[in-house]
Amino acid sequence: MIEKLKEIKEKALVEIQNISDKKSLNEIKVKYLGKQGELTAILRGMRDVSPEDRPKVGALVNEVRSEIESRIEEKENRFDEEELANSLASEKIDITEPSKFISKGAVHAVPMITDKLIDICVDMGFTVVDGPEVETDYYNFEAMNIPKNHPSRDMQDSFYITDNILLRTQTSAVQSRELETRKPPFKIISPGKTYRNDSDSTHSPVFHQCEGLVVDENVSMADLKIMLSEMMRRLYGEGTKVRFRPSFFPFTEPSIEVDVSCPNCKGEGCKTCKGTGFLEILGAGVVNPKVLDIAGIDSKKFTGFAFGMGIERTSMVLNAIPDLRTMYKNDVRFLSQLK
Ligand code: DAH
Repeated sequence: MIEKLKEIKEKALVEIQNISDKKSLNEIKVKYLGKQGELTAILRGMRDVSPEDRPKVGALVNEVRSEIESRIEEKENRFDEEELANSLASEKIDITEPSKFISKGAVHAVPMITDKLIDICVDMGFTVVDGPEVETDYYNFEAMNIPKNHPSRDMQDSFYITDNILLRTQTSAVQSRELETRKPPFKIISPGKTYRNDSDSTHSPVFHQCEGLVVDENVSMADLKIMLSEMMRRLYGEGTKVRFRPSFFPFTEPSIEVDVSCPNCKGEGCKTCKGTGFLEILGAGVVNPKVLDIAGIDSKKFTGFAFGMGIERTSMVLNAIPDLRTMYKNDVRFLSQLK
């Protein structure tokens, strides 16, 4: 038995010595030390050893076992170290290499201008309201005093769903709804999507507007002009000049159009403003008494003013963007430059 043990030890140590990978080392471990292993078999045979030889043989079994174990462990540690060294060498990180550019994204022009407008108007005491984008002919046109033969009713301009239902062509539709449900005095704005059958460098079939409406006693054109001037200065920056021109809208009387001094050339005249120094920016006016009457508001007691502006148009003017469509391409490099 002693001979056998010595033989096992010699054989095991040579095998361990020659092993070159972790998997084979594991196999050796099982072969000698496992449940079915050669050393375990010897231990089982101890019962056949004479009692006086047992301590000697027992001690030798233990010695051989721990020798094999410690050699295996040594080899295991060596393999682990080699593995670590290899992975450190192959996965080397060069901390001096320039980092990859990670794009942070940018706020889109539409929510950016909308948020600015909301901030300005809420500061002035306006309440923000919402209205449906799929609207009835009544609220979009009829209640806004737009008669049946008005050009904006033409099927080519509007997306009709049925004879009486269409995608709203203007946020002014919210005016009709609010006039019908609210009791004056009130001040509301309503930003949102609008739709027209129009598509070129300055028109998109889907675009955004913001409507504003104030109804109270003794509200006048003077109030409208003061409020819009302040609003434009806050939106376009201190020093912005504001110009009012007479215009026509069926729902306001009198009606005006508002220009601001070109932010690109500060009113000097450039390509963006076609040399005029000014850019048209919104429509507004004193609410036509007919619109108040249709909604059931006493037009002898109450007056109002209203305005409507394009959100994309505002951003185009503010940033001198020549083509509206670049706004919808969602190129972060472009969007992150906008103010
Ligand atoms: N709804 C008009 C448009 O889409 C803009 C407008 C003009 C709105 C005058 C108004 C207003 O509230 O008073 O062109």
